[in-house]
Amino acid sequence: MKMKVFITRKIPGDALSQLKKKYRVKVYPYDKIIPRRELIAGVQWCDALLCLLTDNIDKTIIDFNPQLKVISNYAVGYDNIDVEYATKKGIPVCNTPSQQVVDSVAEHTFALLMGLAKRIHEDEEFIRDDKWRVAWDPHLLLGVLVKGKTLGIIGLGRIGKGVVERAVRGMGMKVIYHDVVRDKEFEAEFQAKYLPLNTILQEADFITLHVPLLPSTQHLIGKAQLKLMKKTSFLINTSRGAVVDETALIEALEKKQIRGAGLDVYEHLPHVNPRLKRLHNVILTPHTASATMEVRLQMSKDAAENIIAVLEGKTTAKVVNPQIYTR
Ligand code: DGY
Repeated sequence: MKMKVFITRKIPGDALSQLKKKYRVKVYPYDKIIPRRELIAGVQWCDALLCLLTDNIDKTIIDFNPQLKVISNYAVGYDNIDVEYATKKGIPVCNTPSQQVVDSVAEHTFALLMGLAKRIHEDEEFIRDDKWRVAWDPHLLLGVLVKGKTLGIIGLGRIGKGVVERAVRGMGMKVIYHDVVRDKEFEAEFQAKYLPLNTILQEADFITLHVPLLPSTQHLIGKAQLKLMKKTSFLINTSRGAVVDETALIEALEKKQIRGAGLDVYEHLPHVNPRLKRLHNVILTPHTASATMEVRLQMSKDAAENIIAVLEGKTTAKVVNPQIYTR
């Protein structure tokens, strides 16, 4: 009897045909987030679940099929899955971290950083609103130089490192960072300085967040932290919305307590607070930091290969809870 794979949404790439060669595969056929009832039916039917970061795979869902052999998330982040509970049930949870994702998110982070520094969004708006009257004005829309500025990285994982590489090698920036673990080799390679979080907030000209969403990182940046930032500094978030207390950030931006923000994620996405939309010192993107064709195809391949590897007992799957194999 062939094993059964349920995919919660159509995804780009050839995951489907790869999986169909080996298994019985069902895909939720509509191009929208799968309703809970249908998710439950899919989970009850399958041996392997391929889900998206918009699917809430909580304890209740897992309890509908604690015999699941694998949960393969089509994402790097997995805060949409109760990994602790899956681990308790012995279910491997996989994700799709690849060099392509690292590069795409690091590039997007940099696009936000550069856009803020050079005020590209305001330049655009200025022309489209027909405000351009004088051919050249020495006072018009002055931004800041990026070269020589200090970049504060919070979370030095693979994406954080990708941002550092671009900042130091591409833009001549200085880097200071904070993480729960220190990487002295990396520090030496990029002249990066390890500092406490509060010092990063006080000293950096640009601060960018690259931590996963965990109970310990929820609202890592709140009112008190924003108060420490310089009036001239910018905050960039391409990690998860809830890492920042959005209300506190909006207040800081409205009061011009910090200079600006570049956001790809929000606390209640896809809802974006209308107060944020009214601000001109922010650039907003709709969770598209990893949205390149190369990445989507790679994620598709990885998500399918994770399922195949787990079901075939291979060790190549990208499992985020490997402890299930060692206890
Ligand atoms: C991920 O894969 O976790 C990203 O947030 C998707 O852009």
